[in-house]
Amino acid sequence: MTYVVVENCIKCKYLDCVEVCPVDCFYEGDNMLVIHPDECIDCGVCEPECPAEAIKPDTDPDLAVWLKLNADYAKSWPNITSKRDAPPDAKEFDGRPNKFAEFFSPEPGPGD
Ligand code: SF4
Ligand code: F3S
Repeated sequence: MTYVVVENCIKCKYLDCVEVCPVDCFYEGDNMLVIHPDECIDCGVCEPECPAEAIKPDTDPDLAVWLKLNADYAKSWPNITSKRDAPPDAKEFDGRPNKFAEFFSPEPGPGD
């Protein structure tokens, strides 16, 4: 089992999650984060910290596509362990439907 970052992180990227992870297993894309499923120890600490409710346990079968995306991009995006400011327009995108199709970027973020 692992936790996964899901669609609502896209263009919200609040980054509150990275500071609480005891094993630093978040990786940064251009406009979202992912969790490395082999590094996550399933502690659950990050889930309530996300203002966008974009972190879920992988026990939900509907999340298979997101588990794969987290696993794939955790291999190439840089690690991030410290919080920066969220994007200034993060709130405008919180809860917006269809974010993956419209806004997902495979480009890596800066990491830290
Ligand atoms: Fe890190 Fe725990 Fe969240 Fe996994 S569940 S990403 S180990 S804080
Ligand atoms: Fe994304 Fe939530 Fe972290 S929006 S960056 S999973 S705090």
